[in-house]
Amino acid sequence: MNTRSLRSASTDTDTIQPAHLFKARVKENIKVSGRFYILKATPETGFFVPAPLPGQFFMLGLDRRKDPLLKRPFCYFRVRDGALEILYRIVGKATFLMRELREGDRVEVLGPLGNPYPLPGWGKHKKPLVVAGGVGIASVFPLLEALKGKAVLFYGGRSRDELVLTDELQGMTSELHLASDDGSAGFKGAVTDVLADYFKDKKKSDFIIYACGPNGMLKAVCGMGLRGYISSEEKMACGIGVCLGCAIKTRSGFKRTCKEGPVFDMDEVVFE
Ligand SMILES: Cc1cc2nc3c(=O)[nH]c(=O)nc-3n(C[C@H](O)[C@H](O)[C@H](O)COP(=O)(O)OP(=O)(O)OC[C@H]3O[C@@H](n4cnc5c(N)ncnc54)[C@H](O)[C@@H]3O)c2cc1C
Ligand code: FES
Repeated sequence: MNTRSLRSASTDTDTIQPAHLFKARVKENIKVSGRFYILKATPETGFFVPAPLPGQFFMLGLDRRKDPLLKRPFCYFRVRDGALEILYRIVGKATFLMRELREGDRVEVLGPLGNPYPLPGWGKHKKPLVVAGGVGIASVFPLLEALKGKAVLFYGGRSRDELVLTDELQGMTSELHLASDDGSAGFKGAVTDVLADYFKDKKKSDFIIYACGPNGMLKAVCGMGLRGYISSEEKMACGIGVCLGCAIKTRSGFKRTCKEGPVFDMDEVVFE
């Protein structure tokens, strides 16, 4: 099957509405665990249009700040009680400053952006299998909600502290397999090793895969002879297809993660 028919059979990307730029007021900013926080922000207009889809992302900027100047990309995690929720991990300047946001502070948001995960259509009779590494869990979280408990989740992180919301995830999945680098939760080692073990006695063609995480993990998943989708977290500058800073190599040339992605067919991306 060619990759084009794979996507068009399952997602009507033509119906995705254009992104909006809006200001939002911080409602809450809570520590989840370790370096992970959830930011909740309500659009000043009081409503949220268009509704984001699993796999899409937002560019988020700190209001009135010149440094950092550029907005940063964050996955659509969820919307609750009219507030957009972002699950973020502190890694550098912007995310460090985000941690300081308090109720009533303003943020500037552009989105939703990018193409969502195609839900089973092609693959309707296949079992959805979701693989998340690190903060990649933010991307697949709304997908797991949309799959209504049918998916098997493989979730890996550095340590127990970096495997967040596991109780909630347990209730959202048919099976939850954890892996950590230090062995403090689940299997000690790479989540892709757990995945490989899972397939020891199963037919790969019975499954459709969705994966988001670091490039090393995505490369390993793509090398396992499976079919499905990955979401790339390539660094971004503009988020709207102008700067070409987020281009990744695919079998049909370079493609922009922010415009043609971040979700790609697994067999389309070329990892080097
Ligand atoms: C489509 C997309 C969705 C994303 N969703 C989320 C999300 O839901 N939650 C979340 O916490 N993060 C997410 N990220 C990553 C997030 O955008 C970066 O962590 C953030 O931009 C870092 O900003 P900073 O100023 O704190 O760090 P910087 O000071 O810009 O960088 C600090 C360090 O992190 C590295 N870094 C920066 N961006 C990335 C990246 N994209 N991948 C790997 N390393 C990076 C830099 O090389 C540097 O070493 C997403 C990225 C993309 C492209
Ligand atoms: S981030 Fe500028 S083109 Fe994608």
